[in-house]
Amino acid sequence: MLNVPPVTAYLNGRFAPLDQLQVSVLDRGFLFGDGVYEVIPVYDRQPFRLTEHLNRLATSLESVRIPNPHTPAEWAAIIGELIAKQASADQSVYLQVTRGPAWPRNHAFPAKVEPTVFLFADPLTPPAPALVENGVVAATMADIRWLRCNVKAISLLANVLARQHGVDEGVAETILLRDGLLIEGSASNIFIVKNGVIAAPPPSHLMLTGITYDLIIELARQHGMPIEIREVSETELRDANEVWLSSSSREVLAVVSLDGRPVGNGTPGPIYRAIYRHYQAFKAGVMRIGHDRPLDQT
Ligand code: PDD
Repeated sequence: MLNVPPVTAYLNGRFAPLDQLQVSVLDRGFLFGDGVYEVIPVYDRQPFRLTEHLNRLATSLESVRIPNPHTPAEWAAIIGELIAKQASADQSVYLQVTRGPAWPRNHAFPAKVEPTVFLFADPLTPPAPALVENGVVAATMADIRWLRCNVKAISLLANVLARQHGVDEGVAETILLRDGLLIEGSASNIFIVKNGVIAAPPPSHLMLTGITYDLIIELARQHGMPIEIREVSETELRDANEVWLSSSSREVLAVVSLDGRPVGNGTPGPIYRAIYRHYQAFKAGVMRIGHDRPLDQT
């Protein structure tokens, strides 16, 4: 038996305890990995950057030709109700839409099918202070994924293998390289710093544009920190003074060792410390005013 926590989840219009919800074995999400998802952090019961997450969801759905089953207002209402039903104030909302159940099994889209909408919320714990203070270690691996990595698809087998490679190596993240270029992590985006200048790969079909990635770029620009959005070579990654990873669940963490060699002096660098502070201040500010962006930008 799975040890499923007693949280309320949502499936196709119905809220119920997570361990009581079931989908058809003919669901195309199960048979083909035919679906897309989002992971939305919630602080003090406020979804963080909800508009951006819903926009990315809409783009992912459109890219794989699944009709968006809800308007942004309907999504916000479902997510709001899900959040209200949880015990924890800080949560991570997982949202998944698959093309739905269909018979017979056939790769091509069924003529008539209802998308399956599934959400659950988990208590969210920010990265432990020790990880922020000391950084994390990472390994690299060749990126063997498809060429539509900008779609947040549930078919994550290559990401799963990449992440497991990291676990086997005893590291916190696996950084993917393709054709001599830095791409992203198995479940995060990657930034480097060289001589005080931050650099990160540009959004493309090769990587998922993180909501956290966008926010870090925004914060760096807002605070006058030099930042270049451009291709970053493997050599630059290995030569960097600082390397960071970012995601909704891990916020921003310094990578202090890569493939067993120290990054910079092997401790989180000064630019990391600055961006971490800005990130936390932004988070605290928007949560206090109950808004997902500073008021002067609305
Ligand atoms: N993953 N790149 C990949 C491949 C990811 O899976 C993720 C996040 C990111 C960062 O995106 P964001 O900042 O929007 O979280 C980049 C989520 C957290 C997951 O799959 O659990």
